[in-house]
Amino acid sequence: GSSGLILGIESSCDETAAAVVRGGAEMRSNVVASQIPTHSPYGGVVPELASREHLRNIVPVVRAAMEEAGAGFGDLDAIAVTSGPGLAGALLVGISYAKALAFALNKPLIAVNHLEGHIHAVLLEQAELAAKSEQPPLPLPALALVVSGGHTHLYLVRKRGESWSYRNVGRTVDDAAGEAFDKVAKLLGLGYPGGPWIDALAAHGNPSAVPFSFAQIKAKAHRRDGPAAAGRSAADPAASTLFSFSGIKTAVLRYTQLHAMAESIEHRRSVLAAIPDARPSDALALCDQQALDLIASFQRAVVDDLRRKTFRAAEQLGATSLLVSGGVAANRELRVRFTAEAADRGLPIAFPSLALSTDNAAMIAAAAWPKFLSKEIAADELSADPTLSL
Ligand code: KG4
Ligand code: ZN
Repeated sequence: GSSGLILGIESSCDETAAAVVRGGAEMRSNVVASQIPTHSPYGGVVPELASREHLRNIVPVVRAAMEEAGAGFGDLDAIAVTSGPGLAGALLVGISYAKALAFALNKPLIAVNHLEGHIHAVLLEQAELAAKSEQPPLPLPALALVVSGGHTHLYLVRKRGESWSYRNVGRTVDDAAGEAFDKVAKLLGLGYPGGPWIDALAAHGNPSAVPFSFAQIKAKAHRRDGPAAAGRSAADPAASTLFSFSGIKTAVLRYTQLHAMAESIEHRRSVLAAIPDARPSDALALCDQQALDLIASFQRAVVDDLRRKTFRAAEQLGATSLLVSGGVAANRELRVRFTAEAADRGLPIAFPSLALSTDNAAMIAAAAWPKFLSKEIAADELSADPTLSL
Protein backbone atom coordinates (compact mmCIF):
# COMPACT_ATOMS: atom_id res chain seq x y z
CA GLY A 1 0.00 0.00 0.00
CA SER A 2 0.98 3.66 -0.33
CA SER A 3 2.72 5.26 2.60
CA GLY A 4 2.32 8.69 1.08
CA LEU A 5 5.98 9.41 1.82
CA ILE A 6 7.92 11.48 -0.68
CA LEU A 7 11.60 12.34 -0.37
CA GLY A 8 12.24 15.80 -1.81
CA ILE A 9 15.65 16.97 -2.99
CA GLU A 10 16.54 20.60 -3.76
CA SER A 11 19.87 21.92 -5.09
CA SER A 12 18.96 24.75 -7.45
CA CYS A 13 21.05 27.47 -5.86
CA ASP A 14 23.10 27.65 -2.69
CA GLU A 15 21.28 25.32 -0.31
CA THR A 16 21.53 21.55 -0.42
CA ALA A 17 18.23 20.34 1.00
CA ALA A 18 16.31 17.11 1.56
CA ALA A 19 13.00 16.48 3.28
CA VAL A 20 10.36 13.82 3.77
CA VAL A 21 6.72 14.89 3.49
CA ARG A 22 3.68 12.64 3.82
CA GLY A 23 0.73 13.18 1.50
CA GLY A 24 1.75 16.77 0.73
CA ALA A 25 0.45 17.71 4.15
CA GLU A 26 2.72 16.43 6.89
CA MET A 27 6.37 17.45 7.17
CA ARG A 28 8.31 14.53 8.64
CA SER A 29 11.76 16.06 8.21
CA ASN A 30 13.40 19.10 6.68
CA VAL A 31 17.19 19.34 6.42
CA VAL A 32 19.03 22.25 4.81
CA ALA A 33 22.81 22.58 4.43
CA SER A 34 23.52 26.23 3.77
CA GLN A 35 26.49 27.31 1.67
CA ILE A 36 26.49 30.86 3.00
CA PRO A 37 30.01 30.61 4.47
CA THR A 38 31.32 29.32 1.12
CA HIS A 39 29.93 32.18 -0.95
CA SER A 40 29.95 35.12 1.44
CA PRO A 41 33.60 36.10 0.80
CA TYR A 42 32.53 36.66 -2.83
CA GLY A 43 29.35 38.57 -1.99
CA GLY A 44 27.26 36.26 -4.17
CA VAL A 45 26.81 32.69 -5.28
CA VAL A 46 29.77 31.28 -7.23
CA PRO A 47 28.20 28.59 -9.46
CA GLU A 48 31.24 26.32 -9.64
CA LEU A 49 31.63 26.33 -5.85
CA ALA A 50 27.91 25.74 -5.41
CA SER A 51 28.07 22.54 -7.50
CA ARG A 52 31.03 21.24 -5.52
CA GLU A 53 29.32 21.97 -2.21
CA HIS A 54 26.14 20.21 -3.35
CA LEU A 55 28.19 17.17 -4.31
CA ARG A 56 29.85 17.20 -0.90
CA ASN A 57 26.57 17.64 1.00
CA ILE A 58 23.96 15.67 -0.88
CA VAL A 59 24.50 12.22 0.64
CA PRO A 60 24.73 13.35 4.29
CA VAL A 61 21.77 15.70 3.86
CA VAL A 62 19.53 12.98 2.39
CA ARG A 63 20.67 10.55 5.07
CA ALA A 64 19.83 13.08 7.78
CA ALA A 65 16.39 13.74 6.29
CA MET A 66 15.59 10.02 6.22
CA GLU A 67 16.82 9.56 9.78
CA GLU A 68 14.88 12.57 11.07
CA ALA A 69 11.75 11.20 9.41
CA GLY A 70 12.33 7.76 10.93
CA ALA A 71 11.84 6.30 7.48
CA GLY A 72 13.72 3.74 5.41
CA PHE A 73 14.25 4.14 1.68
CA GLY A 74 11.90 1.21 1.11
CA ASP A 75 9.06 3.17 2.76
CA LEU A 76 9.14 5.92 0.13
CA ASP A 77 6.45 6.23 -2.54
CA ALA A 78 8.55 8.49 -4.76
CA ILE A 79 11.61 10.71 -5.05
CA ALA A 80 11.03 14.35 -6.02
CA VAL A 81 13.69 16.71 -7.29
CA THR A 82 13.92 20.32 -8.43
CA SER A 83 14.53 20.33 -12.20
CA GLY A 84 14.68 24.13 -12.64
CA PRO A 85 14.92 27.06 -12.72
CA GLY A 86 18.33 27.55 -11.15
CA LEU A 87 22.05 27.11 -11.71
CA ALA A 88 22.65 24.34 -14.26
CA GLY A 89 25.55 22.69 -12.45
CA ALA A 90 23.84 22.94 -9.09
CA LEU A 91 20.59 21.44 -10.41
CA LEU A 92 22.49 18.58 -12.07
CA VAL A 93 23.86 17.38 -8.74
CA GLY A 94 20.40 16.96 -7.23
CA ILE A 95 18.90 15.53 -10.42
CA SER A 96 21.70 12.99 -10.97
CA TYR A 97 21.52 11.86 -7.37
CA ALA A 98 17.70 11.63 -7.41
CA LYS A 99 17.73 9.71 -10.68
CA ALA A 100 20.23 7.19 -9.41
CA LEU A 101 18.33 6.77 -6.14
CA ALA A 102 14.97 6.32 -7.90
CA PHE A 103 16.55 3.83 -10.28
CA ALA A 104 18.21 1.82 -7.53
CA LEU A 105 15.05 1.76 -5.39
CA ASN A 106 12.77 1.23 -8.40
CA LYS A 107 10.61 4.18 -7.28
CA PRO A 108 9.07 6.87 -9.46
CA LEU A 109 10.98 10.13 -9.94
CA ILE A 110 8.98 13.37 -9.96
CA ALA A 111 10.36 16.63 -11.38
CA VAL A 112 9.30 19.80 -9.59
CA ASN A 113 9.56 23.42 -10.70
CA HIS A 114 11.33 25.40 -7.97
CA LEU A 115 8.74 28.20 -8.19
CA GLU A 116 5.87 25.77 -7.77
CA GLY A 117 7.81 24.51 -4.77
CA HIS A 118 7.83 27.96 -3.16
CA ILE A 119 4.05 28.14 -3.54
CA HIS A 120 3.70 24.72 -1.94
CA ALA A 121 5.76 25.79 1.06
CA VAL A 122 2.65 27.76 2.01
CA LEU A 123 0.14 25.13 0.84
CA LEU A 124 1.95 22.45 2.86
CA GLU A 125 1.68 24.39 6.10
CA GLN A 126 -1.90 25.40 5.31
CA ALA A 127 -2.72 21.71 4.84
CA GLU A 128 -1.04 20.89 8.16
CA LEU A 129 -3.16 23.49 9.94
CA ALA A 130 -6.32 22.39 8.15
CA ALA A 131 -5.65 18.77 9.16
CA LYS A 132 -5.56 19.86 12.80
CA SER A 133 -8.70 21.88 11.96
CA GLU A 134 -6.97 24.93 13.34
CA GLN A 135 -7.75 26.89 10.22
CA PRO A 136 -9.92 26.57 7.09
CA PRO A 137 -7.98 26.06 3.85
CA LEU A 138 -7.03 29.20 1.87
CA PRO A 139 -9.92 30.19 -0.39
CA LEU A 140 -9.09 29.88 -4.09
CA PRO A 141 -8.21 31.41 -6.46
CA ALA A 142 -5.27 32.73 -4.48
CA LEU A 143 -2.80 35.28 -5.75
CA ALA A 144 0.74 34.06 -5.02
CA LEU A 145 3.70 36.43 -4.82
CA VAL A 146 6.91 34.43 -5.17
CA VAL A 147 9.65 36.79 -4.18
CA SER A 148 13.22 35.53 -3.81
CA GLY A 149 16.79 36.14 -4.84
CA GLY A 150 16.11 34.98 -8.36
CA HIS A 151 12.40 35.64 -8.82
CA THR A 152 9.63 38.14 -8.44
CA HIS A 153 6.50 36.54 -9.87
CA LEU A 154 2.76 36.72 -9.40
CA TYR A 155 0.58 33.67 -10.06
CA LEU A 156 -3.13 33.10 -9.88
CA VAL A 157 -3.40 29.72 -8.17
CA ARG A 158 -6.33 27.35 -8.63
CA LYS A 159 -7.07 23.72 -7.94
CA ARG A 160 -9.07 21.33 -10.08
CA GLY A 161 -9.51 17.92 -8.52
CA GLU A 162 -6.09 17.01 -7.18
CA SER A 163 -4.09 19.14 -9.60
CA TRP A 164 -3.01 22.73 -9.13
CA SER A 165 -2.82 25.30 -11.87
CA TYR A 166 -0.81 28.52 -11.96
CA ARG A 167 -1.39 31.45 -14.27
CA ASN A 168 1.55 33.82 -14.43
CA VAL A 169 0.15 37.34 -14.00
CA GLY A 170 3.26 39.30 -13.04
CA ARG A 171 7.05 39.34 -13.13
CA THR A 172 10.09 41.56 -12.86
CA VAL A 173 11.54 43.06 -16.03
CA ASP A 174 15.05 43.18 -14.53
CA ASP A 175 16.30 42.35 -11.02
CA ALA A 176 14.39 40.21 -8.54
CA ALA A 177 13.45 41.89 -5.26
CA GLY A 178 15.85 39.67 -3.29
CA GLU A 179 18.58 40.54 -5.75
CA ALA A 180 18.00 44.23 -4.95
CA PHE A 181 18.36 43.46 -1.23
CA ASP A 182 21.56 41.53 -1.95
CA LYS A 183 23.07 44.17 -4.24
CA VAL A 184 22.19 47.10 -1.99
CA ALA A 185 23.60 45.27 1.05
CA LYS A 186 26.79 44.62 -0.88
CA LEU A 187 27.18 48.23 -2.01
CA LEU A 188 26.63 49.38 1.58
CA GLY A 189 29.38 47.07 2.84
CA LEU A 190 27.04 44.60 4.56
CA GLY A 191 27.11 40.80 4.50
CA TYR A 192 25.73 38.18 2.14
CA PRO A 193 22.94 37.37 1.51
CA GLY A 194 21.80 40.93 2.06
CA GLY A 195 18.13 40.44 2.93
CA PRO A 196 18.55 39.48 6.59
CA TRP A 197 21.10 42.30 7.11
CA ILE A 198 18.83 44.96 5.69
CA ASP A 199 15.84 43.51 7.54
CA ALA A 200 17.69 43.76 10.87
CA LEU A 201 19.30 47.18 10.34
CA ALA A 202 16.19 48.82 8.86
CA ALA A 203 14.49 48.48 12.24
CA HIS A 204 16.89 51.18 13.53
CA GLY A 205 16.34 53.69 10.73
CA ASN A 206 13.66 56.11 9.61
CA PRO A 207 11.90 54.63 6.56
CA SER A 208 10.65 58.06 5.45
CA ALA A 209 14.08 59.72 5.53
CA VAL A 210 14.93 59.15 1.87
CA PRO A 211 11.94 59.49 -0.43
CA PHE A 212 12.70 57.03 -3.22
CA SER A 213 10.27 57.83 -5.97
CA PHE A 214 7.93 55.44 -7.65
CA ALA A 215 9.65 56.32 -10.94
CA GLN A 216 12.93 54.93 -9.63
CA ILE A 217 11.22 51.65 -8.91
CA LYS A 218 9.10 51.55 -12.03
CA ALA A 219 12.08 52.50 -14.20
CA LYS A 220 12.44 50.63 -17.44
CA ALA A 221 9.24 48.59 -17.54
CA HIS A 222 7.85 50.46 -20.51
CA ARG A 223 11.02 50.65 -22.54
CA ARG A 224 11.86 46.97 -22.23
CA ASP A 225 8.45 45.58 -22.98
CA GLY A 226 6.83 48.31 -25.01
CA PRO A 227 3.62 50.06 -24.12
CA ALA A 228 1.50 47.08 -25.16
CA ALA A 229 2.94 44.78 -22.51
CA ALA A 230 3.28 47.42 -19.83
CA GLY A 231 -0.07 49.09 -20.29
CA ARG A 232 -3.36 47.61 -19.26
CA SER A 233 -6.06 47.70 -21.86
CA ALA A 234 -9.73 47.82 -20.95
CA ALA A 235 -10.25 44.36 -22.45
CA ASP A 236 -7.57 42.76 -20.28
CA PRO A 237 -7.43 44.84 -17.13
CA ALA A 238 -4.57 42.96 -15.50
CA ALA A 239 -2.63 41.54 -18.43
CA SER A 240 0.54 41.50 -16.46
CA THR A 241 1.96 43.29 -13.44
CA LEU A 242 5.52 44.40 -14.05
CA PHE A 243 8.09 44.95 -11.33
CA SER A 244 11.51 46.54 -11.73
CA PHE A 245 14.13 46.69 -9.00
CA SER A 246 17.31 47.74 -10.76
CA GLY A 247 16.49 51.46 -10.62
CA ILE A 248 16.30 51.57 -6.84
CA LYS A 249 19.71 49.95 -6.54
CA THR A 250 21.18 52.68 -8.72
CA ALA A 251 19.33 55.31 -6.69
CA VAL A 252 20.88 53.96 -3.47
CA LEU A 253 24.32 54.01 -5.05
CA ARG A 254 23.82 57.61 -6.21
CA TYR A 255 22.65 58.61 -2.72
CA THR A 256 25.83 57.20 -1.17
CA GLN A 257 27.92 59.13 -3.72
CA LEU A 258 26.05 62.40 -3.20
CA HIS A 259 26.43 62.11 0.57
CA ALA A 260 30.08 61.05 0.49
CA MET A 261 29.45 57.77 2.26
CA ALA A 262 32.20 55.81 0.49
CA GLU A 263 34.72 55.98 3.32
CA SER A 264 32.35 54.75 6.03
CA ILE A 265 31.11 51.99 3.72
CA GLU A 266 34.67 50.82 3.08
CA HIS A 267 35.41 50.91 6.80
CA ARG A 268 32.30 48.81 7.54
CA ARG A 269 33.20 46.33 4.81
CA SER A 270 36.72 45.79 6.10
CA VAL A 271 35.73 45.51 9.77
CA LEU A 272 32.99 42.99 8.96
CA ALA A 273 35.32 41.00 6.70
CA ALA A 274 37.65 40.52 9.67
CA ILE A 275 34.89 39.13 11.92
CA PRO A 276 34.43 35.37 11.47
CA ASP A 277 30.75 34.60 10.84
CA ALA A 278 29.80 38.27 11.11
CA ARG A 279 26.12 38.86 11.84
CA PRO A 280 23.79 41.82 11.27
CA SER A 281 24.14 42.79 14.93
CA ASP A 282 27.88 43.28 14.33
CA ALA A 283 27.04 45.87 11.68
CA LEU A 284 24.80 48.05 13.84
CA ALA A 285 27.64 49.86 15.59
CA LEU A 286 29.28 50.37 12.18
CA CYS A 287 26.28 52.22 10.72
CA ASP A 288 25.62 55.89 11.43
CA GLN A 289 22.07 57.22 11.45
CA GLN A 290 22.29 58.34 7.83
CA ALA A 291 23.17 54.80 6.73
CA LEU A 292 20.42 53.28 8.86
CA ASP A 293 17.88 55.74 7.44
CA LEU A 294 18.98 54.89 3.92
CA ILE A 295 18.61 51.17 4.62
CA ALA A 296 15.16 51.62 6.17
CA SER A 297 14.02 53.83 3.29
CA PHE A 298 15.23 51.36 0.69
CA GLN A 299 13.38 48.52 2.36
CA ARG A 300 10.20 50.58 2.73
CA ALA A 301 10.29 51.51 -0.97
CA VAL A 302 10.68 47.91 -2.13
CA VAL A 303 8.05 46.55 0.26
CA ASP A 304 5.60 49.31 -0.65
CA ASP A 305 6.01 48.66 -4.34
CA LEU A 306 5.50 44.91 -3.88
CA ARG A 307 2.48 45.57 -1.67
CA ARG A 308 0.78 48.13 -3.93
CA LYS A 309 1.13 46.09 -7.10
CA THR A 310 0.23 42.78 -5.47
CA PHE A 311 -2.96 44.07 -3.85
CA ARG A 312 -3.97 45.89 -7.03
CA ALA A 313 -3.51 42.69 -9.04
CA ALA A 314 -5.47 40.70 -6.44
CA GLU A 315 -8.36 43.10 -6.77
CA GLN A 316 -8.28 43.18 -10.58
CA LEU A 317 -8.09 39.41 -10.85
CA GLY A 318 -10.69 38.65 -8.21
CA ALA A 319 -8.29 36.67 -6.02
CA THR A 320 -9.95 35.57 -2.78
CA SER A 321 -6.73 35.15 -0.82
CA LEU A 322 -3.03 35.96 -0.95
CA LEU A 323 0.05 33.92 -0.36
CA VAL A 324 3.61 35.22 -0.24
CA SER A 325 6.64 32.95 -0.41
CA GLY A 326 10.34 32.85 -1.28
CA GLY A 327 13.28 34.23 0.66
CA VAL A 328 12.05 37.83 0.75
CA ALA A 329 8.82 36.60 2.38
CA ALA A 330 10.97 36.28 5.51
CA ASN A 331 11.23 40.07 5.62
CA ARG A 332 9.59 41.44 8.77
CA GLU A 333 8.47 44.75 7.33
CA LEU A 334 6.95 42.95 4.34
CA ARG A 335 5.00 40.64 6.64
CA VAL A 336 3.75 43.48 8.82
CA ARG A 337 2.64 45.70 5.93
CA PHE A 338 1.09 42.94 3.83
CA THR A 339 -0.73 41.58 6.87
CA ALA A 340 -2.10 45.01 7.77
CA GLU A 341 -3.39 45.72 4.27
CA ALA A 342 -4.87 42.23 3.95
CA ALA A 343 -6.73 42.79 7.22
CA ASP A 344 -8.03 46.14 5.94
CA ARG A 345 -9.35 44.45 2.83
CA GLY A 346 -10.66 41.35 4.61
CA LEU A 347 -8.42 39.18 2.43
CA PRO A 348 -6.95 36.04 4.01
CA ILE A 349 -3.15 36.02 3.67
CA ALA A 350 -0.59 33.28 4.33
CA PHE A 351 3.19 33.24 4.65
CA PRO A 352 5.44 30.23 5.13
CA SER A 353 7.17 29.77 8.47
CA LEU A 354 10.64 31.34 8.35
CA ALA A 355 12.24 27.93 7.80
CA LEU A 356 10.14 27.33 4.68
CA SER A 357 10.45 30.88 3.29
CA THR A 358 13.94 30.36 1.95
CA ASP A 359 14.99 27.39 -0.17
CA ASN A 360 14.16 23.98 1.27
CA ALA A 361 13.14 20.53 0.06
CA ALA A 362 9.90 20.12 2.04
CA MET A 363 8.26 22.43 -0.49
CA ILE A 364 9.56 20.22 -3.31
CA ALA A 365 8.23 17.04 -1.72
CA ALA A 366 4.88 18.74 -1.05
CA ALA A 367 4.56 20.03 -4.63
CA ALA A 368 5.28 16.52 -5.90
CA TRP A 369 2.35 14.90 -4.08
CA PRO A 370 -0.43 15.91 -6.52
CA LYS A 371 1.89 14.90 -9.39
CA PHE A 372 2.39 11.50 -7.76
CA LEU A 373 -1.38 11.08 -7.50
CA SER A 374 -1.84 11.94 -11.17
CA LYS A 375 1.15 9.77 -12.17
CA GLU A 376 3.15 12.67 -13.58
CA ILE A 377 6.43 10.79 -13.59
CA ALA A 378 9.66 12.30 -14.94
CA ALA A 379 11.08 10.96 -18.18
CA ASP A 380 14.29 8.92 -18.03
CA GLU A 381 15.89 11.77 -19.99
CA LEU A 382 15.10 14.38 -17.31
CA SER A 383 17.81 17.03 -17.19
CA ALA A 384 18.34 20.43 -15.61
CA ASP A 385 16.34 23.28 -17.08
CA PRO A 386 18.01 26.49 -15.78
CA THR A 387 15.33 28.74 -17.31
CA LEU A 388 12.26 26.59 -16.61
CA SER A 389 9.21 28.80 -16.22
CA LEU A 390 5.95 28.35 -14.35
O1 KG4 B 1 14.12 31.63 -1.88
P1 KG4 B 1 15.56 31.88 -1.62
O2 KG4 B 1 16.21 31.15 -0.47
O3 KG4 B 1 16.44 31.53 -2.88
C1 KG4 B 1 16.05 31.83 -4.18
O4 KG4 B 1 15.27 31.03 -4.78
O5 KG4 B 1 16.48 32.92 -4.66
O6 KG4 B 1 15.73 33.45 -1.46
C2 KG4 B 1 16.96 34.05 -1.15
C3 KG4 B 1 16.77 35.55 -1.18
C4 KG4 B 1 18.06 36.35 -1.06
O7 KG4 B 1 18.04 37.37 -2.04
C5 KG4 B 1 17.96 36.93 0.34
O8 KG4 B 1 18.64 38.17 0.49
C6 KG4 B 1 16.48 37.11 0.49
O9 KG4 B 1 15.92 35.96 -0.11
N1 KG4 B 1 16.08 37.20 1.91
C7 KG4 B 1 15.51 38.29 2.46
C8 KG4 B 1 15.35 38.01 3.84
N2 KG4 B 1 15.81 36.74 4.06
C9 KG4 B 1 16.25 36.25 2.87
N3 KG4 B 1 15.16 39.46 1.92
C10 KG4 B 1 14.62 40.40 2.73
N4 KG4 B 1 14.44 40.20 4.06
C11 KG4 B 1 14.79 39.03 4.65
N5 KG4 B 1 14.59 38.85 5.96
ZN1 ZN C 1 14.01 29.81 -4.08
